[in-house]
Amino acid sequence: MGTVLAVVSQKGGVGKTTTAINLACALARRGRKTLLVDVDPQGAVRHGVGLAGAGQPPGLADVLAGTHELQDVVLATPLPWLRVLLAGSVSDAAEHETYQAQVAGSPMLGELFSRARGRGYLVIVDTPPGLGAVTRQVLAHSQHVIVPLQSEPLALQTTTQILRAIRDAAVGNPALVLDGVLLTMVEEGNAVSQRVAGYVRDQLPPELLFETVIPRTMASIEAFAAGQPVVLHSPDDPAALAYTRLADLLDARLS
Ligand SMILES: Nc1ncnc2c1ncn2[C@@H]1O[C@H](COP(=O)(O)OP(=O)(O)OP(=O)(O)O)[C@@H](O)[C@H]1O
Ligand SMILES: [Mg+2]
Repeated sequence: MGTVLAVVSQKGGVGKTTTAINLACALARRGRKTLLVDVDPQGAVRHGVGLAGAGQPPGLADVLAGTHELQDVVLATPLPWLRVLLAGSVSDAAEHETYQAQVAGSPMLGELFSRARGRGYLVIVDTPPGLGAVTRQVLAHSQHVIVPLQSEPLALQTTTQILRAIRDAAVGNPALVLDGVLLTMVEEGNAVSQRVAGYVRDQLPPELLFETVIPRTMASIEAFAAGQPVVLHSPDDPAALAYTRLADLLDARLS
């Protein structure tokens, strides 16, 4: 039986998509049968896995709209063990709202996850920022969750909210386990960033915080611009090594 790992955060721009893509690639490279699912109508996964070429490939939104079948929109990638399900055709703000309402009102997400689990997939889900209907649906049907936290002042401010939302979701879905908060974009030589990281370590119970932190690196930015996960683009870069270490830890933990 497979399992579902959601990457969620209250705040935007903290490294959710980067984390979801890099973990998916690192785990698939280890031979884990992995399905990366983008439920964020912004559709950033498509850029991160190099599918940003001409035209928008269909995805989840198209299945929800009833124009495509699920089996036709799960895409192969250059990694043999990695498949992706993109957000699909959602373009402007009005459509984002329709999409959110459709996801929230449809049993499809739960059905999709349980089908993928039945086929032995590790499903990694990239979510939109915040605690909207889509994220709540994802949490209702996940077994694991990771919360990226960008190492910047006030980082912890929104963390209490997301941790509370995860606790609430676990009431209806007792299988849900918070694997940990992941510090991202930590800057080695930056006193503020280091102070925030230290503060987060002081404030959160140690079992809730991954010891591995993701450094902010140029290679991560270059990889993103090149439409590739940093673990494939620059495997020796410190951020790539950190994601690989985290994937090793999770591989052992995600049964
Ligand atoms: N370790 C890193 N080093 C340098 N830049 C990074 C790193 N991780 C992420 N970034 C950059 O930070 C920006 C935000 O990252 P990302 O898109 O993964 O965040 P997100 O939480 O998914 O954002 P959103 O909430 O908008 O979906 C991107 O430009 C990304 O390339
Ligand atoms: Mg994102």
